[in-house]
Amino acid sequence: MEAEEMRRLGYRMVDLVVENALNRHASPAIQADTPEALAQALGGPLPEAPGDADAALDTLARVALANMQHGDHPRYFARVPGPASFAAVLGEWLGTGFNTIATSWGGGSGPSTVELVAVRWLAEMLGLPEATEGVLLSGGSLASLTAFATARAEMGPGTAYFTDQTHSSLPRDLRLLGWAADELHMLPVDAGYRMDPARLAAAIQADRARGRTPRMVIATAGTTNTGAIDPLDEIAEICAAHDLWLHVDGAYGAPAAITAQGRALMPGLARADSLVIDPHKWLFQPYDVGACFVTRPGALERTFAMNPEYLRDVKTAPGTVNFGDRSPELSRRSRALKLWMSLTTYGAGRFRAAVARGIANAEFAENYLRQNPARWQVVTPAQIGVVTFALVGADAAEHARRAKVVSDTGYAAVTSTLLNGVSVLRLCTINPLTTEDDIRQTIDRLGAA
Ligand SMILES: Cc1ncc(COP(=O)(O)O)c(C=O)c1O
Repeated sequence: MEAEEMRRLGYRMVDLVVENALNRHASPAIQADTPEALAQALGGPLPEAPGDADAALDTLARVALANMQHGDHPRYFARVPGPASFAAVLGEWLGTGFNTIATSWGGGSGPSTVELVAVRWLAEMLGLPEATEGVLLSGGSLASLTAFATARAEMGPGTAYFTDQTHSSLPRDLRLLGWAADELHMLPVDAGYRMDPARLAAAIQADRARGRTPRMVIATAGTTNTGAIDPLDEIAEICAAHDLWLHVDGAYGAPAAITAQGRALMPGLARADSLVIDPHKWLFQPYDVGACFVTRPGALERTFAMNPEYLRDVKTAPGTVNFGDRSPELSRRSRALKLWMSLTTYGAGRFRAAVARGIANAEFAENYLRQNPARWQVVTPAQIGVVTFALVGADAAEHARRAKVVSDTGYAAVTSTLLNGVSVLRLCTINPLTTEDDIRQTIDRLGAA
């Protein structure tokens, strides 16, 4: 492609992206056309001859990218939103444009340094120990997989403890890594949907008495369902007493710890042996990026380092980091550029303010619901950006119907979930662009649907 054409198409793409951001509030929060219509617009025979790049960009933007959940929409309250910031998008674009690789020091000392710096900045914002090391992966699932492989390499095989509120990708990770079914010990939660330390301690004792080898406890800092935070300090005490690895899944909620209010809700976070966060959820990054932190120096390399002959030239001086030795990924793009770019552009203070706004939004939603007790029952209070509630007298089918009616209009995306088998509606309010009016109107529309 000629340079002028590259420029022209590149600027067009920027225009499409900025136009999308400017129109976001007025466009649907979620959209899905039929499989037939999508296949018709996007499919067809393999293009053998060159085509029109302008038309292709338009089709991608107006068909493929329109038909999805818009996680960065201010009224996208379903599951976990993804309110990506523009400076982060810039970092992502630049990295892709330069075909960046962050695998070895010799083959990518610049991007590797950016990743070292970004991991350090994140660890500092979260209050993790100085010696913490980390690596960026595609998201929470792969970051926890990396942590579990490390835990087993460091500690040996044995039973892992978690709760029925642990995100289902974590037991899947354990199964993928070969944990046997009888080494997966799922515990019931307390009335606040948190891990119960007394139950955990009793389960460890009972398993030991039966000849099992307890090895790891998986706590959650912010469950997907309710935002509940397990009592990390008490769990850390139990882990210390029994020499168990403590993994904290903070994929959703641990970014709350960059604010004073959130940090106070998570004492013990810094005692984790491994911690996972998902910057593509609550740290304003486009998909994909998850971070795996391990507080034992060298543990990631002890688990993942390889030394094939053909990589000898790029694995240089001692003291440098080869990120291909810190996870199961060898060839890997730089996911750190967007973090570096956005932290440098906005500063940590703006990140803190944006996270605090998400926490306050859920508190506003809870207060609004409480103003109408004849209609709404708050089931779990606002907890780091999540509130769950029920329409008085409604069953699961009715909740699902109302969530679907509101989502089908495109005004907002809302989902229901089950708590102890009982249906609730749920709002996750972590987009800092969400207004109080967005929240009021969404709740009113759920009530009227
Ligand atoms: C608490 C929690 N853990 C783990 C995950 C999995 O993360 P990912 O989808 O980035 O793999 C999620 C996803 O929503 C989550 O909410």
